[in-house]
Amino acid sequence: MEDTRLKEIRKNERKSHIEMYSNDELYKEGSWLRRPIKTVVDLIPLFDKYEEINVLDLGCGVGRNCICIAQHYHDRLCKIDCVDILDLAIEKLHANANKYGVTSNICGIVKSIDDYQIKGNNYDLVMAISSLEHVDSKETFANKLQEIEQGIRKNGIVCLVANSNIKEFDKKTGNEMPPQFEVNLLTEEMQTIFEKTFSEWTVLKTTVVDQQYDIPRDSGICELKTSVVTFMARKE
Ligand SMILES: C[S@@+](CC[C@H](N)C(=O)[O-])C[C@H]1O[C@@H](n2cnc3c(N)ncnc32)[C@H](O)[C@@H]1O
Repeated sequence: MEDTRLKEIRKNERKSHIEMYSNDELYKEGSWLRRPIKTVVDLIPLFDKYEEINVLDLGCGVGRNCICIAQHYHDRLCKIDCVDILDLAIEKLHANANKYGVTSNICGIVKSIDDYQIKGNNYDLVMAISSLEHVDSKETFANKLQEIEQGIRKNGIVCLVANSNIKEFDKKTGNEMPPQFEVNLLTEEMQTIFEKTFSEWTVLKTTVVDQQYDIPRDSGICELKTSVVTFMARKE
């Protein structure tokens, strides 16, 4: 992707995430942050027999998904590395960790997923919820998945949720706008990359759900249409 386009997208994204995180409080009714996503809630008990659990949350935001994991495993050796490009997200993540009594479990890192080197054979769970489509190119997307594959240890789980086939429309005019996502893959292509990368793994969940919602942009509110791909698998 050309540098100016990448900068433009990241500027727009920064703006919309700052707006969303400033207006919405974690686990508060009526907010998109009101609860963790169901896929994550469902996978939490899968680690119940573990003494020690190492988690990586890529594009963690303010902790919607990782804080409930930290709460569940608070009495074990549970360490969650939380990576986000946005300083405000990590600031709020730490405040939320403090509020929910899980400071010792959460390690916030302000970094782009592009530059975050995933340590090999280190994690029991790696999740990327609505974040991998924000890496800087399709090549990085594929490479990062390989890194995730290498970074998870035996019996560990990968949990990916990513937007595909994205279209944006100006709410006022109805005009189609360039989607403010760095990587916009066709749904089938995304599914194929996931399946190929984790071809030796046991697939636990694979779904595609069409969604539509409003999102703040520089030009005003846009309507986002997307096919959300969920892929969850276990390394045998
Ligand atoms: C839609 S939010 C999802 C946040 C969180 N995963 C959740 O489900 O609540 C996307 C998050 O990814 C972060 N993000 C976007 N691009 C990123 C990148 N290249 N590297 C790391 N984080 C990124 C944003 O700052 C934002 O917090």
